[in-house]
Amino acid sequence: MILPRPEVLATPPVPHGGAADPAVLDFSANLNPFGPSPAVIAAVRAANWERYPDPAAGRLRGLLAARLGVAPERLLVGNGSSELIDLVCRAFLRPGDVVRLAEPCYGEYARSARLCGADLATDADRPARLLFVCTPNNPLGTLTPADELTELADRWPDTLVVADEAYADCVPGFRSLAATGQPRPNLLVLRSLTKAHGLAGLRVGYAVGPADVVEALRRVQPPWSVNALALVAAEAAVAEEAHTARTALAWLRLRDELVAALRPLGIEPRVAATPFFLLPNPPGLPWYLRMRRHGIAVRDATSFGLPQFARVSPRLGPDNLRLLAAVREELSP
Ligand SMILES: Cc1ncc(COP(=O)(O)O)c(C=O)c1O
Repeated sequence: MILPRPEVLATPPVPHGGAADPAVLDFSANLNPFGPSPAVIAAVRAANWERYPDPAAGRLRGLLAARLGVAPERLLVGNGSSELIDLVCRAFLRPGDVVRLAEPCYGEYARSARLCGADLATDADRPARLLFVCTPNNPLGTLTPADELTELADRWPDTLVVADEAYADCVPGFRSLAATGQPRPNLLVLRSLTKAHGLAGLRVGYAVGPADVVEALRRVQPPWSVNALALVAAEAAVAEEAHTARTALAWLRLRDELVAALRPLGIEPRVAATPFFLLPNPPGLPWYLRMRRHGIAVRDATSFGLPQFARVSPRLGPDNLRLLAAVREELSP
């Protein structure tokens, strides 16, 4: 019998939000409930997918470069930011290297690092080869100031600091390191177009960083990993930033309405900068099990080390009313 590498056998899969069953009302994945703009949908419908996609994603990189004010060589487009997390680990980690995580955080950093044979650490004083900081944080919704990240990069010149800004466009006014010129040679920013832009099923994200770091990621990326539909959708979405900004604001208003309706029920949600927030579990069964009885999915936060919470991503008004009705029913004696 041929066995895979020991790291492969020792690395369990990471739980994710997102209900596979379309009949389930899904509050467990952090996706813009307004979806992409009509221009994005039209671009996807008109796309030619009979040829290979541009492996360099030249048009999209050009659009992003102009928007961010960085050279296109400092950008790499990936099959979602998940692919970029994996590329960073595969390009930079050797077995036994230390990867530091600012926890709680997205589970894929640990998985990708483990698969490369790295040791995980949360100790802030331990020198590491990679440091992942998730800002806006999943699942807390909190922000790490850009200055703090550049200070970390300065303090640890032998560490590649990876700022995962997957939810940046969900937070109006977010100060992204991607757009500040980020003059640090050891600071890489990851962005996603799946969440605020509503392209989760198409899979597209990008990395912005020093040209040599980006070139290393490019070398380990499989060819054509970003498909033709994802590329045209992302190009249209980037050209339509006003739609994303407008709907992100409206999404936050939906959060505020939902939270305001939960408080009179004796629930004190933990709300930060993002539309998604944490709901403290009631005594007895946790929310994710209770909601399942109502055909509703919320994200159990146990895998983040927060078993006392469920993470909830607001949907459109009528769906939020269904969630509220289910919560009320569960809490009624
Ligand atoms: C913090 C964070 N980063 C990255 C990702 C990956 O997103 P995608 O691969 O869809 O861009 C997720 C997905 O949930 C996430 O929560």
